[in-house]
Amino acid sequence: MRFEIGLAPMAGYTDRAFRKICLEFGADFAFTEMISAKGLLVACEKTKNLLPGPDERNVAVQIFGSDPDVLSTAAEELSKEFSWVDLNAGCPVRKVIRRGEGGALLRDLERLRYVVRAMRKRMNGRFSVKTRLGWDRNEIERIYAVLIEEGVNVVFVHARTVVQGFSGRADWKALSVLDKVVPTFVSGDIFSPEDARRALEESGCHGVIVARGAIGNPWIFKQIRDLLEKGGYEEPSPMQVYEVFVKHLELLIENKGEEKALKEMRKFVAGYTKKMRNAKKFREVFMKIENVDLLKEMVYNFFKEQEV
Ligand SMILES: Cc1cc2nc3c(=O)[nH]c(=O)nc-3n(C[C@H](O)[C@H](O)[C@H](O)COP(=O)(O)O)c2cc1C
Repeated sequence: MRFEIGLAPMAGYTDRAFRKICLEFGADFAFTEMISAKGLLVACEKTKNLLPGPDERNVAVQIFGSDPDVLSTAAEELSKEFSWVDLNAGCPVRKVIRRGEGGALLRDLERLRYVVRAMRKRMNGRFSVKTRLGWDRNEIERIYAVLIEEGVNVVFVHARTVVQGFSGRADWKALSVLDKVVPTFVSGDIFSPEDARRALEESGCHGVIVARGAIGNPWIFKQIRDLLEKGGYEEPSPMQVYEVFVKHLELLIENKGEEKALKEMRKFVAGYTKKMRNAKKFREVFMKIENVDLLKEMVYNFFKEQEV
């Protein structure tokens, strides 16, 4: 069986630029950031910018909301233009939960069923749900049964409860009990190719999705594939990291303009410079520079120095 490896959704990270880089480096598919279903319906410009561009392939458009009418209308509209819509049923952020969205959908599984049914009824194409083990305890078997009964095509599970947030460890084994009748993916604490292999073994899933471990480290997708298929993998050289770093920056500039791009790139610097010499100092200076040419020169010098 060929396992699939995807880029997990991350609000504030998985934009067009980062998706493109990850897909080029071996991710089989990627997610958008989570997009408000309500925002889509009021045609909010900021919200629309989160949607995939016309040349993008293999991207799941993730929406969040709580109202079945709003979610199903948004899903119907999206499915006219995109082949894959995903529902967020796992986000633990307080503001989201308070509105009954994201992970709050797991508080009442009959309500979850109602929402999923409404969406499925009105949309064509691939429909996935990204969820967690449960609200405050492991109820994944019941959740999974609801999703399958209501016609969901792909399931992603972050192997923690909503209440857990990011604390404790992801419980990959908790997914081993599922009778995986549709492609089922495990998420949580996959920071290395070895983690991915173990998560697959313990969960019995069809694939993994990687979130934090891919930030500034898009090589992880190919590395996972190589470990699974060839038994080993390579680390990129500093100059290979440099090239991707600059490419990422240029894509961000193209999509968002210089000022925004520099700010966005700051979130990725730690990832790209992990374990490198003098990285702390480099990051500090990077956070302050506002001139792109100066910045590029500094970036080049930093990575070049790593080679000696
Ligand atoms: C900064 C950040 C933003 C996230 N945004 C989303 C999101 O928009 N939608 C979603 O379903 N999950 C979101 N997640 C959860 C991830 O997709 C993933 O399930 C979780 O981080 C566990 O995987 P990891 O250990 O590989 O990071 C986010 C996680 C992080 C760290």
